[in-house]
Parts: sequence; structure tokens; C-alpha cells
Amino acid sequence: MPDGLTAPPQDLIDAARYPLADAAARARIVAAGRKGLAHEGCAMLPRFVTPAGTAAMAAEAMRLLPRSNRRDLQLCAYANQSADGFPADHPRRRVSPFRQHVIGADDFAPDGPVMRLYRWDGLTRLVADLLELPALHRVADPLLSCNVTIMGEGDQHGWHFDSNDFVVSLLLQAPERGGHFVFAPGIRSESDPNYDRVARALDGDPAVLRMPEVSPGTLALFRGKHSIHRVTPIEGARPRIIALFSYDRRPDMNFTERSRMNVLGRSRPRAATAQTAGGKGT
Ligand SMILES: [Fe+2]
Repeated sequence: MPDGLTAPPQDLIDAARYPLADAAARARIVAAGRKGLAHEGCAMLPRFVTPAGTAAMAAEAMRLLPRSNRRDLQLCAYANQSADGFPADHPRRRVSPFRQHVIGADDFAPDGPVMRLYRWDGLTRLVADLLELPALHRVADPLLSCNVTIMGEGDQHGWHFDSNDFVVSLLLQAPERGGHFVFAPGIRSESDPNYDRVARALDGDPAVLRMPEVSPGTLALFRGKHSIHRVTPIEGARPRIIALFSYDRRPDMNFTERSRMNVLGRSRPRAATAQTAGGKGT
């Protein structure tokens, strides 16, 4: 995992709207985000990144599209957990389509716009404050710490829970239609899987689901470990592009090899793969 950056990426953030260096303004921004998390299950910071910033990040992602992993899978929302013993229509067994391109963290240049924002320690501190945590860490995983997904017409991101504590998303480009983020806030806890309510979410019951309006540049936080979520199918020719920044309360959080394979179709960073391949020359 690359080291953190202390200087804010001033060419990306809308500092007039989010003057984070001003203590009073920062406190107001944090209070508003906490209110959103408490009442809506998510915090939205619209236009956190400027249109020029999202355009630069979207262009970087599109340049990396040839290196992305094309996912076209049917997965259940509990991908890493066994479904043994559960009936066929149980939430533990139900599957949905995962169709998207995913770019691995190791494919982004350390000095490119995506990594300069993710590696900025000020963003990590802001996310920790919004979540009312004394400390938070970017996940250590060299592949899945920071990803960008690109979804074209007909693509969708199926129902799932995240395996790390918190994900921050930043929409870089909206599709013409569809591609809505839908979630059921706090639908389960560590002690209660709440399968009945999860089944209602999978059925599309609007009483348990939320579909916030998200515009490009919006920094969005929500607790994906306990909130089942999906992205509805993309309509129209313009791809939906979104950056996903992962955090954890532990400083050394790595995803499982199975998760890496699921998302990126590989479990090792490019450099390690190249070195291994080079070392097998004899
Ligand atoms: Fe997720």
C-alpha cells in the first residue's frame, strides 16, 4: 500500500464548497454528514470533487479500461459464505448478475488523480470523522483498496454486502439512464442476519430500500457491511464510472484471495506477477 499524502489535491477538490482547512466550516460539513448517516443511512457530499476533477479521473479510468477485469457472473449476496443447508429461495442462495469492468488499485499511477485523492490523509481523516471513529485506515490490500468500475449499457452490480467496514464512493460519470445505487441501510447486524428483511430487499420492496440521487463529484459514504446494496442496469451509451475507496478500522486489512479473484480475476499485484514470471525463466 502506498504511503499517505499530506497535501490536499487542490486541483480535484471544490475547496470553495468544502473549505476543510477552516475548522468551523469543517465541523459543519462533518455534522451534516453525520446527520445523513444517522437519518438516511448514508452521507452525501455533493460536488466534493470539481467537474474538471471528475473528468480527469474518468479519463484516467477510461485509459485503463484495457487492463480492467471484465466480470460477468451470477453471485449471491453472501459470496464468501457457504449456502449449505439453506433452501433454494433463501437470501443465502439467491443470485444476481455482476456485469462490470473493474480496474485494480495497482493499475493506477501513484501520482494520477485517482490515487492522489485516495492516498490523501485528509480524506481518510474526514471519513473517520464522518463515521465518528477515532481512527480509520485505508485498507492494506494492494488490489482492492481502491478500484474504479466502468459499467456499459446493460451492465449492473448485483446485490451484495461488503466485507470491509466502510466504502466511500465517488461517482465520476453518470450514465444517461439507470445505474441507480439502491441500498437497505443497516439491514443486518453482527448478531442478527435479518434474513426476512433481506429477502424483502432482494424482492425490491421499496419499504426497505433507498435510492439516493447521486450526481458526479458526490462523495458518498455508507456502511456496506451491514447494508445490502446494488446498482441497477445501465441504460444508454454513456458508461457509468465510479471510484470506490475502502477503509477499515484495522490498519492491515486485506481481502481474501477469493475476493480478489472474484473482483479482479487475479490475486497478485502486477509487479509480483511480473517478478514471479521472470523468476520462472529457467
Ligand atoms: Fe459494495
